[in-house]
Amino acid sequence: MQQKIIILDFGSQTTQLIGRRVRELNVYCEILPYNKFPLDDESVIGVILSGSPFSVYDQKAFKADLDVLRQRHLPILGICYGAQFIAYTNGGSVEPAGSREYGRAILSHIDPACPLFKGIEPGSTVWMSHGDTITSISDDFHVTASTDKVKIAAYQHNSENIFGVQFHPEVYHSEHGTQMLRNFVVDICGATCDWSAASFIETTVKELREQLGNDKVVLGLSGGVDSSVAAVLLNRAIGDNLTCIFVDHGMLRKNEFEDVLNDYKCLGLNVIGVDASAEFFAELAGVTEPERKRKIIGKGFIDVFDREAHKLRDVKWLGQGTIYPDCIESLSITGTTIKSHHNVGGLPEKMNLKLCEPLRLLFKDEVRAVGRELGMPDHLIKRHPFPGPGLAVRILGDITPEKVAILQEADHIFIQGLKDWGLYDQVWQAGVILLSVQSVGVMGDERTYERAVALRAVTSTDAMTADWAHLPYDFLAKVSNDIINHVKGVNRVCYDISSKPPATIEWE
Ligand code: XMP
Repeated sequence: MQQKIIILDFGSQTTQLIGRRVRELNVYCEILPYNKFPLDDESVIGVILSGSPFSVYDQKAFKADLDVLRQRHLPILGICYGAQFIAYTNGGSVEPAGSREYGRAILSHIDPACPLFKGIEPGSTVWMSHGDTITSISDDFHVTASTDKVKIAAYQHNSENIFGVQFHPEVYHSEHGTQMLRNFVVDICGATCDWSAASFIETTVKELREQLGNDKVVLGLSGGVDSSVAAVLLNRAIGDNLTCIFVDHGMLRKNEFEDVLNDYKCLGLNVIGVDASAEFFAELAGVTEPERKRKIIGKGFIDVFDREAHKLRDVKWLGQGTIYPDCIESLSITGTTIKSHHNVGGLPEKMNLKLCEPLRLLFKDEVRAVGRELGMPDHLIKRHPFPGPGLAVRILGDITPEKVAILQEADHIFIQGLKDWGLYDQVWQAGVILLSVQSVGVMGDERTYERAVALRAVTSTDAMTADWAHLPYDFLAKVSNDIINHVKGVNRVCYDISSKPPATIEWE
């Protein structure tokens, strides 16, 4: 049985990060809503309670039943709100902090006897982010770490394996955060660290064979990492019983359809390429509203896919490259929809197929590790994320084949430049946006009145937050020059220096 850590999500923005950090320790974990602890699951070896946007004394605050965990003697680590919740429900007090405590802090005192801090000396930097603070804890607990401002920065139960930290060990700025999480999951919970890409492939291939038998599966490829890895994994399990469909909606990057199709064939996948660009351009003509564009492309994709899949015989399953963050987002307890990202929502219902999502428990970096382990080439695995609606959401205003052609050229120069300068792997994602403004320029002796494009390149770990990439000026100058000199119709290049939030990565 695969042992696991459960992370109960009280709605913090860093809950997913806790999960990723635990997985980085080769320990399997699952993130579940705060009130959905799996009572019958014997494989749970420890529980982490996340932070939360609420205060423990809020009417609406999320509450979990800790007694069931304690009866099973499961080690518990409360982080931020999680720590406050444990303290508060055990007779301690939590009050609004005099000054909100955000950012860097130094643990000036650490109890050397606390197993959570094994190998960590006073002076360690941690990251705080809370408006409340624990002002007292019951006699069953004792303080194990303090900062100059926060006396009860961490605590431990006197006789049970219950720990609380008011800072965030999971964020990368917390200097020994990984060590603290390792101390908890390995030393305190007894995890064996056997979760790896190779072990995942072995078990998943076996499970897929059992689940699918001799059934036929159809899967939509997008050229992106997730669907590609899902396809190769399924192909490893069921061979030619998997058929893949790759739809060109006309909004792909320059030469992408041909190149990616070729890659897929080299990987031994049974893949059908469908050029449906004319249909999509016709549907999109004159449409300017971003959400409408997305809906049209989403629906168009479903129609084309459905039509093609019906040409196949006896298909029972729809394979999808859904990954863990997609599932957690849909579970999200406080999340709001900013943009509709779900390109193919509704497809399984329409086609009346059963869903097969072999990557649904993996984070993005784990998907890449699995791809690598499956022998996929780096240029497929390290591809930047690319939105399902493609260049359509990077052309502001209406879409025409001419605009797509301009954008493809500009985008190609930028992306190829990043690769040539060794910068491609340093950014999470990059692309060019075709703006709906024209501006005056001068080329030779001629006055020009042409389009402006914006370059967008961001660093990120999960696309939930992102910073603009600080690309070298020389590189930006070269790309700007190349675009203006070689892409007819563009006479101005800007660089987008907005972070997410408050901006988003895509412009539409
Ligand atoms: P935003 O623009 O919301 O994007 O910061 C976050 C990440 O999601 C990608 N994205 C999409 N992916 N269909 C997709 O498959 C979509 O409609 C879509 N919109 C945005 C975006 O490229 C970034 O990686």
